[in-house]
Amino acid sequence: MNHVPVAIIGAGPAGLTLSHLLHQHGVESIVFESRTRQQVEETVRAGILEQGTLNLMRDTGVGERMEREADIDEGIDISINGQPTRIPLTELTGHHVAIWPQHEYLKDFIAKRLEDGGTILFSTTVAEVDGHLGEKPTLTYTTEGGVPETISTDYVIAADGSSSPYRKIITEGTGIRARHEYPYAWFGILVEAPKTQKELIYATHPEGFALISTRSETIQRYYLQCDPDDTVDMWSDERIWEQLHLRADSDEIKVTEGRIFDKAVLRFRSAVTEPMQQGRLFLAGDAAHTVPPTGAKGLNLAVADVSVLAPGLVRALKRKDTGLLDAYSSLAVPRIWKAQHFSYWMSSMLHAVPGEDHFATQRRFAELRSVLESEAGQRYLAEQYVGKDLPKFEV
Ligand code: PHB
Repeated sequence: MNHVPVAIIGAGPAGLTLSHLLHQHGVESIVFESRTRQQVEETVRAGILEQGTLNLMRDTGVGERMEREADIDEGIDISINGQPTRIPLTELTGHHVAIWPQHEYLKDFIAKRLEDGGTILFSTTVAEVDGHLGEKPTLTYTTEGGVPETISTDYVIAADGSSSPYRKIITEGTGIRARHEYPYAWFGILVEAPKTQKELIYATHPEGFALISTRSETIQRYYLQCDPDDTVDMWSDERIWEQLHLRADSDEIKVTEGRIFDKAVLRFRSAVTEPMQQGRLFLAGDAAHTVPPTGAKGLNLAVADVSVLAPGLVRALKRKDTGLLDAYSSLAVPRIWKAQHFSYWMSSMLHAVPGEDHFATQRRFAELRSVLESEAGQRYLAEQYVGKDLPKFEV
């Protein structure tokens, strides 16, 4: 039977970043991905890179295209009822963020893994993980050609996203899954139009939230708060533009219009699985936890997880020292809860709860204004938004 030191299920941000970091320390891994390379590289997701994430890309040789093409932003606008306030992120924290959508991030890491001789098995479904409580787990998988294979490994990493079946192995034992549902969702569009403005606008209005983001000089990404049960056909172009202008326009800035070529409803969910390990099975990224998109923390949290997991695995495999690996969950979970809190807090200030009354709207606006009118408040929001440095461990 073939053997690989680390078997990684899922070619998303957690799996690919982990595989890349392991390679940098001479540890071999295989990434198993059920989708095709094209599907992975074309799935539209959010994409704000915190300073720590973009530093990791730069420092480990994956940042070249991002440096050349991504917008680097030093501030965001928060707009209440058509009145924007700029939060100068860089002035307040010394850090900036990059607008680099998740699929672009994935393209960079796939290209780098392949260039470095790494193995990513696309269109390959893992059917079973066995023996993770013992010394040598095995993975049974079906290759692109439909051939079943088995491989042995030292460690299995489930990085296969929010519907990971491996999480259940932990929660059916002593683990827990904490969840929160939100009474709203986002309606996301891609549009051929010039930028509304370079920096993002997070806008709130009695009718709800809108986000003005961007993908390039000619393609823009806009979101509107909608009902979780809304379907794409309930949002005509006319309704979209009317609501975007109502919620996000100000005296100086009007949302730019153009041909809408993609519409989708994004569900809002928070969930955390604890612990993120059982025996030689580890969860990373969305397989363990999901955040709503408001704080744009999803990808960054996945990268934070594997910043602990990678050195832990390297120490365990190269030095037979499992101390850091054993501490993975306790080191990763506090950051996850802080990101949950930030995403929840931003979401609750910016979104209208369906049927909310005058009291609820004005209290929400007052909470936001209290933050925006205080330097300490702005600094707090900015620190959370740009994110703390990634955990760093010697290997
Ligand atoms: C995006 O551009 O898709 C985006 C930006 C910021 C967010 C969420 C999504 O908070």
